[in-house]
Amino acid sequence: MGLFDTVLKDTESLFLDTLPLDIDFIPPILEGRENEQQYIATCIQPLFQKRNGKNLFITGAPGIGKTVATRYVLNELHKKTDDIHTLYINCWKKDTPHKVALEICDQIDFKFVQQRDTNELFKEIARILNKKSAVIVLDEADKITDEQLFYHLLEEINRKTIILITNNDQWLSTLDARIRSRLMSETLIFKPYTFEETKNILKKRVEFAFPPGVLDQRAFAIIVERAFEAKDIRAGLYLLKEAGEIAEQSAQRKISMNHAAKAIAKLKEFKLKSTTTLDEHEQQILDIIKQNNGLTTKDLYAVYQKKGGEQSYSNFHKKIKSLESGRFITLEEQNEGATRATLVKYGMKTLQDFT
Ligand SMILES: Nc1ncnc2c1ncn2[C@@H]1O[C@H](COP(=O)(O)OP(=O)(O)O)[C@@H](O)[C@H]1O
Ligand SMILES: [Mg+2]
Repeated sequence: MGLFDTVLKDTESLFLDTLPLDIDFIPPILEGRENEQQYIATCIQPLFQKRNGKNLFITGAPGIGKTVATRYVLNELHKKTDDIHTLYINCWKKDTPHKVALEICDQIDFKFVQQRDTNELFKEIARILNKKSAVIVLDEADKITDEQLFYHLLEEINRKTIILITNNDQWLSTLDARIRSRLMSETLIFKPYTFEETKNILKKRVEFAFPPGVLDQRAFAIIVERAFEAKDIRAGLYLLKEAGEIAEQSAQRKISMNHAAKAIAKLKEFKLKSTTTLDEHEQQILDIIKQNNGLTTKDLYAVYQKKGGEQSYSNFHKKIKSLESGRFITLEEQNEGATRATLVKYGMKTLQDFT
């Protein structure tokens, strides 16, 4: 038997298109987030009357449509009017005021950025944005390393809605009190999708990704169940793609229960590896937790310091909270007599139950 005898021919691929299974794919229809989108729109509405908009803080667990719903509203707004700039910045990638400034310049087509410092860039940005109004979305806003960014935006841009998105609902309270009071933001909490919603969202993606009949109904059903348990649509997208690839690798023309089960076995690995939302400190702390599972936060901090960790205890604690809300770790309260302690465990309960 030749090495490649079992490979499906190009024309035999099980996928119509793998793109709809990508995390960054923006689906043509967005279901189940109508209220949230309406709320976002309401905050922007005053800009249409040349008044100042409301700022908005959006929070909720990862993988439940915060980014996609907000981007949808921006697209609609962009189609509706030329009088409002729509800016979207992912702060995971652009985490300093200077990087954010350069990104905004790029989006508003301002080219003279060479050898200009951050203050100068924000002056130019204000000069351009202040001719109109602006909606500025900072996604993964907790990744911003320097709060000076907020002063630039709050003080120099006149008519605006600033939307801050984060998975970490504690983050806003860690901001400087003056920034918080200047922001005066409304809060919008995204709730995880129901089972039905999860199923419908994934069903739509399946229709885009696979020809009819390729995906076994039971295989689809267990994938939906796992995605619902994880409360993360991304887990479902990952499983669909992975199951399809596993089936292709064994030159099968259908995606069976067996392929879905194998994909599920790989999911845990994926979840813990999907650290794209972690900064270097969080990553370092997560590695230490992995090697020292079940310590109290205090003991963990001692280990962290021994290993050269430089964050203050309060910053360290923030990182722990953000790892928890990212569901990389689980925190367990423990009461022993009069003393209370928090145990830090690697991984997430429901994900461990998964495989
Ligand atoms: N209502 C929805 N309809 C279709 N796809 C959705 C919906 N909600 C989320 N998704 C998809 O799920 C994935 C995760 O959503 P995302 O907006 O990135 O989550 P978050 O920003 O909350 O982490 C994306 O691929 C997104 O397109
Ligand atoms: Mg997001």
